[in-house]
Amino acid sequence: MRSPEKILITGANGQIGTVLTQTLQARYGQDNVIASDIRAEETFSGQFERIDVLDVKRLEKVVVDRQITQIYHLAAILSAKGEKDPQWAWNLNMNGLFNVLDVGFRQQLRKIFFPSSIAVFGNFTPKINTSQSHFLDPNTVYGISKAAGEYWCNYYRNNYDLDVRSLRFPGIIGYQTLAGGGTTDYAVDIFHAAIQHGTYECFLKSDTRLPMMYMDDAIKCVYDMMDAPYEAITFHGAYNIGAINFTPSEIAAEIQKHLPNFTITYEPDFRQQIADTWPNSIDDSLAKKDWGWSPEYDLAKMTSEMLKQLNKKYNPKGNPRQS
Ligand SMILES: NC(=O)c1ccc[n+]([C@@H]2O[C@H](COP(=O)([O-])OP(=O)(O)OC[C@H]3O[C@@H](n4cnc5c(N)ncnc54)[C@H](O)[C@@H]3O)[C@@H](O)[C@H]2O)c1
Repeated sequence: MRSPEKILITGANGQIGTVLTQTLQARYGQDNVIASDIRAEETFSGQFERIDVLDVKRLEKVVVDRQITQIYHLAAILSAKGEKDPQWAWNLNMNGLFNVLDVGFRQQLRKIFFPSSIAVFGNFTPKINTSQSHFLDPNTVYGISKAAGEYWCNYYRNNYDLDVRSLRFPGIIGYQTLAGGGTTDYAVDIFHAAIQHGTYECFLKSDTRLPMMYMDDAIKCVYDMMDAPYEAITFHGAYNIGAINFTPSEIAAEIQKHLPNFTITYEPDFRQQIADTWPNSIDDSLAKKDWGWSPEYDLAKMTSEMLKQLNKKYNPKGNPRQS
């Protein structure tokens, strides 16, 4: 009989890992999900192992000892942080992935998840409805590492029959944690600032349109892709996935529907140059066709949910900020 799934998550203390760990625990049971991170302060209850993904011996020992069958490999340095120390980001993003792929192959894991990013696109990419098959021309060390990572995942699938699945996340927005050093972080920060201070200084220009996705949809698309039958995955690089796209002024206007006195100012920094090379919107027709991808949150629904959840966090006595 097939043994039950035992899942290891790397980078589990991060923005996506915190939520993905909880949903995987609910799905597979707490004993079957092992969260791991280089930082010891785990943010959830359940099984935790401290793992630096650059330490392949430790990674492999946990995989063997815990009888792991799948790895969700989230540990990485994101776009804005990576530009501050490109060699550090390259080393972690590439060698961390190699370690996961090699251990996955040696220990014959059933599946591996690797999140890529819209950062694989760059200056020569058409901005509107960016196609799945457009060549990759990343401008940041983060984007270069994700593009190379996509090619290596494809290589391990084709040459070693390792079932690695990947998709290109846009900016992810959730209320559970702050964002981890990316170019789309403003779209998380703005909600915290709106509720706490009633004002926000944005590091991108007012008309910078970027693809984004609410956290629930991000988790949903990971499940939809990972649950799909082996044969349904016809593309062995990373799938384009889209959900919503907006500018800072559009999200500010949406917040003002709930908090009429909210104000926003603009002070673009180095992240503007990164954002200027990224797509405005994404063509995700292949993900729709292959595994039925369909997002549930638009800008209005996401804004309303973010404000509701953060109001609970910052105003637990039920005194929502209205001005
Ligand atoms: N959040 C987004 O908007 C977004 C968009 C596109 C792709 N992604 C990808 O999704 C994944 C998760 O993103 P996130 O936003 O949760 O990132 P995050 O920065 O919030 O979390 C990354 C986690 O990795 C951990 N980490 C760092 N170095 C490590 C090491 N050597 N060993 C083990 N753990 C280490 C950090 O402690 C952190 O908890 C990343 O691969 C990222 O590239 C995220």
